[in-house]
Amino acid sequence: MSEKKMNVAVAGATGAVGNQMITCLEERNFPIKSLKFLASKRSVGRELRFKGDMIPVEELTEDSFKGVDIAIFSAGGSTSEKFAPCAAKDGCVVVDNSSAWRMDPDVPLIVPEVNPHAIAGHTKKGIIANPNCSTIQMVVPLKPIYDKCGIRRIVVSTYQAVSGTGKKAIDELFDQTRAMLNFLDYKKNVYPHRIAFNCLPHIDKFLDNGYTKEEMKMVNETRKIFEDDSIGVTATTVRVPVFYAHSESVNIETKEHISAKEVISLLENAPGIKVTDDPENNVYPLATDAAGQDMTLVGRIRDDESIPNGINMWIVADNIRKGAATNAVQIAEILAKKYL
Ligand code: A2P
Repeated sequence: MSEKKMNVAVAGATGAVGNQMITCLEERNFPIKSLKFLASKRSVGRELRFKGDMIPVEELTEDSFKGVDIAIFSAGGSTSEKFAPCAAKDGCVVVDNSSAWRMDPDVPLIVPEVNPHAIAGHTKKGIIANPNCSTIQMVVPLKPIYDKCGIRRIVVSTYQAVSGTGKKAIDELFDQTRAMLNFLDYKKNVYPHRIAFNCLPHIDKFLDNGYTKEEMKMVNETRKIFEDDSIGVTATTVRVPVFYAHSESVNIETKEHISAKEVISLLENAPGIKVTDDPENNVYPLATDAAGQDMTLVGRIRDDESIPNGINMWIVADNIRKGAATNAVQIAEILAKKYL
């Protein structure tokens, strides 16, 4: 059976995630009839490559979506807030990578390995949200455990790469590192403190409850994706001087007992996961191994000896790929195949 081809737009095509979205569409051979690249006025005149062709970047406007079937957005929250409804009004389905629509009850929040059934809800608003990068890589390996024995509580600490903040932050880490190694003064524009040779326990804004917005995204999005408000989640999110791939220390308390051995065999057979766990040979998930590929790496899987039903693990994934672009393109693939 021949695949139905889609008219696709990428909004924010010139950004770090937008660029990766284009690469993912190409790598995964997404069924494309026509392709549009959208960004701000500043980028008009630029061209971006897709499968050997150079495609001009157009200015994103309210009229950009006429005749478009699927628009993948990664152009910031305020751009999504303004333009996603315009796209939906023109009959286009939006897959949005920003946080603007994630907690809207009429917008499905999707990780294809976890809750693909919820994509059906796209008809309510014409918008589907891509979760936060840290949430995506955490829920992929937690899903098979959740299904097998239930999860009562999650304690997560993240070690997040600067690419999650965008291109400016990648440049800032590079420039600060180079300045410091040459005993020169460094500048800081993106983060409130130096990120080179440092760890910042501060991602996104601080909220009244003392958590950051990034931490509360992990709490609320995890519950929405699992459709289970009873899961306790507490998060500490930390920016570290790594360019690509987020690492996470995750401790879970399950409802029924499961051993570390059983978790390993569950995860070895689960989609999207590569168990990387051979400590005797110094094998465990590393940002340097996760970067540039789509699997979520899980290792250091061990029983938490401080409680009866506890498991510890270390989870690493490429935040720009599985944490953003790949997840969005996977959603678009299911949309194209099953719903449009
Ligand atoms: P532009 O390159 O023209 O500024 P990043 O997160 O890597 O900084 O990328 C943000 C992406 O969102 C870029 O493609 C950027 O386009 C796009 N963008 C930002 N603001 C707007 C806007 N107001 N309208 C359209 N695109 C925008």
